[in-house]
Amino acid sequence: MTEGQKTPFIVREIREQFPALRQQVYGKNLIYFDNGATSQKPQVVLDAINKYYSKDNANIHRGVHFMSQRATTDFEEARKIIQKYIHARKSEEIIFTKGTTDGINLVANSFGDLLTPGDEILISAMEHHSNIVPWQMLCQRKQLILRVAPINKKGELITEEFDKLLTKKTKLVAITHISNTLGTINPVKELAQKAHAVGAKILVDGAQSIQHMPIDVKDMDCDFFVFSSHKVFGPTGIGVLYGKEDLLDRMPPYQGGGDMISRVTFERTTYNELPHKFEAGTPHIAGGICLGEAIKFLSGLDIDAIQTHEKDLAHYAQDLLDTFEGMRIIGEAKKKTSVVSFIMEGIHPFDLGTLLDKQGIAVRTGHHCTQPLMDFYGIPGTVRASFAFYNTRQEVDTFIEAVEKSIQMLK
Ligand code: ALA
Repeated sequence: MTEGQKTPFIVREIREQFPALRQQVYGKNLIYFDNGATSQKPQVVLDAINKYYSKDNANIHRGVHFMSQRATTDFEEARKIIQKYIHARKSEEIIFTKGTTDGINLVANSFGDLLTPGDEILISAMEHHSNIVPWQMLCQRKQLILRVAPINKKGELITEEFDKLLTKKTKLVAITHISNTLGTINPVKELAQKAHAVGAKILVDGAQSIQHMPIDVKDMDCDFFVFSSHKVFGPTGIGVLYGKEDLLDRMPPYQGGGDMISRVTFERTTYNELPHKFEAGTPHIAGGICLGEAIKFLSGLDIDAIQTHEKDLAHYAQDLLDTFEGMRIIGEAKKKTSVVSFIMEGIHPFDLGTLLDKQGIAVRTGHHCTQPLMDFYGIPGTVRASFAFYNTRQEVDTFIEAVEKSIQMLK
């Protein structure tokens, strides 16, 4: 297959590439609907992990020897694959992090250092804790003000309220692309235009979007875009911060150590160029290389077909769940994808999740690291089914039967 050619999207064939999906739990075929928490890994990624540690293991950017140079080449090649996939201008704009949380903390600490007392950060009411707490910590440290744009009961950002809170004092808008709890897709391109119109920057949390839709950071015109490898079919412990080059250049390093320096004396240190300025210490080398493999795998698939399939699964599941008496769907945005969160009157989400597990179905229950969102809806948590392209309508049917059976047992 030549570069740019896509494999036709046939779910049955794609599933065969994910060994973890071929197992039984409690004697039942596994149905994995916890993709919002983490995704399963295709064989090419598993093979790449094995290959790296069996043959290529060496430190990077530091050795003259063959293995070190080969590992360096592969790691930097992965950076280029990611750059191309998200349409960054340069590979220097791709910073390897530990994951989304680490990327946000990097920006909060480094970009945050450029801010002065009274400056404002604007987030939304549907953020994950990782896009709330780092800003609270920064606000405390630098006497900044954190503003929160409210949402409506459907789980959509209230545009007029966002517009009112976005002022000349706003220095950064930090917003999720897709809510991990609600599935709401935020209009990030439009928000970027609005942020820039008042002189603010925008950080987009792509933890729940890059695995579901094409990402073009140039077109979106975001200043920062963060995501985690493990949610996009790569290993855990690695992720990416994309930042516009001029902005990253102006930002001070986040952590000090090896590789991020140009010259060190006891009196003074000068820093390395991008991206190394933000990558102190030995990185997760295997992770970076295998994330490159995961992105390569994803770019070989038809992302439009994936989007259609995942949307169909979410709508199908939601419509069927909606027929249960006492069912409440949490998150009914017009633009939503891949996630269905729900609660059943009189049943604790944890109990329902536990019974689903016994029937071989993996879902997440609880507050999903969005406690303020749970407070907004006045609920302790939800049961969340989150889909990936390897899920099927047949699995949804089995899930619905299992929900029905569980409800009967718990009522
Ligand atoms: N943020 C991940 C989730 O939504 C862990 O489950």
